[in-house]
Amino acid sequence: MILGVETSCDDTSVAVLSLDGEVKGLLSANQDTAHRPFGGVVPEVASRQHTEMLLPLIEKVLSESGTGWAQITGIAVTSRPGLIGSLLVGVVTAKTLSLARNIPFVGVNHIEGHLLAALLRDGSYGPPQGFSFPYLGLAVSGGHTHLFACEAPGKYKLLGRTVDDAAGEAFDKFAKMLKLGFPGGIQVDRLATQGDVKAFHFPRGLLHENNLNFSFSGLKTAGMRALEGLSAEEIEKRKADLCASYQEAIVEVLIEKLKKASAQTGLRNWTVTGGVSANSRLRQQAMAAAKQLGATLALPPLRYCTDNAAMIALAGLFKLKVGEKSAQDLSPSAAALPEDWAHV
Ligand code: KG4
Ligand code: ZN
Repeated sequence: MILGVETSCDDTSVAVLSLDGEVKGLLSANQDTAHRPFGGVVPEVASRQHTEMLLPLIEKVLSESGTGWAQITGIAVTSRPGLIGSLLVGVVTAKTLSLARNIPFVGVNHIEGHLLAALLRDGSYGPPQGFSFPYLGLAVSGGHTHLFACEAPGKYKLLGRTVDDAAGEAFDKFAKMLKLGFPGGIQVDRLATQGDVKAFHFPRGLLHENNLNFSFSGLKTAGMRALEGLSAEEIEKRKADLCASYQEAIVEVLIEKLKKASAQTGLRNWTVTGGVSANSRLRQQAMAAAKQLGATLALPPLRYCTDNAAMIALAGLFKLKVGEKSAQDLSPSAAALPEDWAHV
């Protein structure tokens, strides 16, 4: 069994994964309540929460999955990218457990975890029939919007990424402008279901550029301008239309770039993961695009889409299987490392 540990941002998550990739236990402690008064993730608060929650959560996932320490043959921990104080809690814990219990450990890239989430299995989820490497992976969350050709475990080619903000950040900022609470992506999604996607026109960043990059900062500004042009009553009355139109601008670019990437690479296996893949319109449009182009789409359930330790355990499992492990001098890194993926 592999023990997975994820503390890169504001979710403390631990998992037990069998050596054939089956999730035996997954527990995540969400910190939303602690960050809500500040309207966003406060790094210092996040690290403190991880410190309090991580060890009890590890004990709990082991006991609930009926796993003894003797069965743990490897530890996988997110060591990059992320908030440095948050990463440090997970990395120091993994190192200490490794040393005390003589278990090898490996640091993994968080985004690699998102890309592999589609391959996780449990009693109620498994990848769709025919889904395997090589595949296109769109990882879209509050911190990242990255599109990859996933060729094999540990072998990824970065096709495109956001040049400024992540899609989740664009959702959250608009929700904040509309005073919808934190985290806001899900509120925009909920309101959008009652709105008209064509009511307002918002810019589609880099849609017609001849590359696979994304840009959402112009959209954020356009969102702010649109609200400045409306009275408080009008905003209240047209909230659903505003959300639907704004959301559509994000979803349309994500889907168009996914289709473009598929045409360019010939890859017909796709996966969309990360917190934003919870978005109902994105899911709907990704399914429609896959159907249109005859692609196989893996949309993991939400527990594997948002930040979680099961995907980290799987990334670690692939590494440990080929003898890759980290040394006690491993330091967390706020950014990805150059060797994490190839650039096109
Ligand atoms: O993967 P995740 O849990 O953490 C990061 O690595 O960022 O993603 C969180 C992000 C937040 O920006 C949140 O607003 C967004 O995912 N999100 C959504 C929805 N649910 C979560 N965005 C749009 N629609 C949703 N239903
Ligand atoms: Zn993430």
